[in-house]
Amino acid sequence: MIKTQTDSRKLTTAGINCIILAAGMGTRMNTEIPKALHKIGSKTLISRLIDTVRETGIKDISVVVGYNAEKVKEHLKAYGVKTVKQKRLLGSADAVMTAREYFENSEGDIMVLYTDTPLLSKETLNGLINTHKEYDASCTLLTTDFKDPAGYGRIVRDNLGSVIQIVEETDANEIEKAITEVNIGAYCFKKSELLDALKNIKKNEKKNEFYLTDVIKYFRDKKLKIAGYNKCLEKEAIGINSREDLSAAAKVIRMKKIKELMKNGVTFIDPDTAYIDEGVKIGKDSIIYPSVIIEGDVVIGNNCRIGPFARIRGKSLIKAGAAIGNFVEIVRSKIGLNTRVKHHTYLGDAIVGDNVNIGAGVITANYDGKNKNKTVIKDRAFIGVGAVLIAPVKIGKHALVGAGSVVTKNKNVPDKTIVIGAPARIFKGLPAGSKKGVRS
Ligand code: UD1
Ligand code: CA
Repeated sequence: MIKTQTDSRKLTTAGINCIILAAGMGTRMNTEIPKALHKIGSKTLISRLIDTVRETGIKDISVVVGYNAEKVKEHLKAYGVKTVKQKRLLGSADAVMTAREYFENSEGDIMVLYTDTPLLSKETLNGLINTHKEYDASCTLLTTDFKDPAGYGRIVRDNLGSVIQIVEETDANEIEKAITEVNIGAYCFKKSELLDALKNIKKNEKKNEFYLTDVIKYFRDKKLKIAGYNKCLEKEAIGINSREDLSAAAKVIRMKKIKELMKNGVTFIDPDTAYIDEGVKIGKDSIIYPSVIIEGDVVIGNNCRIGPFARIRGKSLIKAGAAIGNFVEIVRSKIGLNTRVKHHTYLGDAIVGDNVNIGAGVITANYDGKNKNKTVIKDRAFIGVGAVLIAPVKIGKHALVGAGSVVTKNKNVPDKTIVIGAPARIFKGLPAGSKKGVRS
């Protein structure tokens, strides 16, 4: 086997078919949801892998589904990939065989990936394809060295360093178990040779499955060329077989995002307790305090302070200089420049202007049991502690809502007006010299 790193040779993914295996039950996950549909951040395992494959330029993707096939197919409708159902889960080799209608009549190469290895990067897949083409190999496989290889197929080599076979953990002897180089589960094959091997490998009697990994030994016996690409980072190679693996993979994605944001000038007081989705954008010199969750497509401007203990959900925009404090939840809302929402507040479907002060415990009652309604709070308004704003409602510029008030539906508060009470009414008892109910 040749260990290599490819360089300048021009990459072409033209003609490559990609088969993603996603039929397995995910037994070790102890789940009724198909493993492919479990999520890391906001993306399912299968959609994450499909997106990466597409980034390499490969267009022809087929997914082998099996356990709970209809659910997976339904999810895949939006992705424009072909699907094929493996009727009996007879192993990874059988799964590839199930998809043969998509590749048996064309020449060229095939890439096989596993849905439960979803963190592979575009660069790694390109490296695998490049190596495969460069060495004109019959099979090229992705390997890496793991500190703890338990559970993975081990790469067995001869004295010259060539691969002899892949031995699965359940079949490995003590010497083989000590091997730290593992099979990641990403391969390129020449199609006709793969088909020939698939027809000839034997069932693994212990597991009652046909192993794709047994193709390697078959190729070796036939003296076909096997190449290896071993530049994959350990953290990309995580195979998700258990809930523990799932959370380890989620952590990899999470930390990657946080590091990227820190590089772009965002301060994290405690990166370990920040949960920031991959699609989130945060501007320079913003500070994220501990225990903050920011989900979906949220944009945060420069110089904002978020948290501790804040949750900002999808379709929200927090403009520069705003402060979102502890125990605040914000969803589908816009928060204006330098606005302060500092304690125990819920803002849903709200458009809040610039320099607004939202007091502790303010709630927008945005849901009437049927619809989500909008609350508009204009620039420089002051919403007192514990106020409830029943949407749809508008609070005018520089208006003041007294502490504990309940502003009822459609009772819009005009600009510069003070309202108090439940239900809120224009306040008439201002100190002498002020115009009644008008904020100066
Ligand atoms: C597999 C590899 C192992 C490798 C590891 C990397 C085999 C035999 N072993 O082990 O060498 O180190 O991945 O994570 O391939 N599947 C089907 N139909 C089936 C059985 C499996 O589609 O009948 C799919 C699964 O959904 C999964 C993939 O094949 O995506 C691998 O199967 P899994 O059971 O997870 O194999 P591992 O034991 O993890
Ligand atoms: Ca697996």
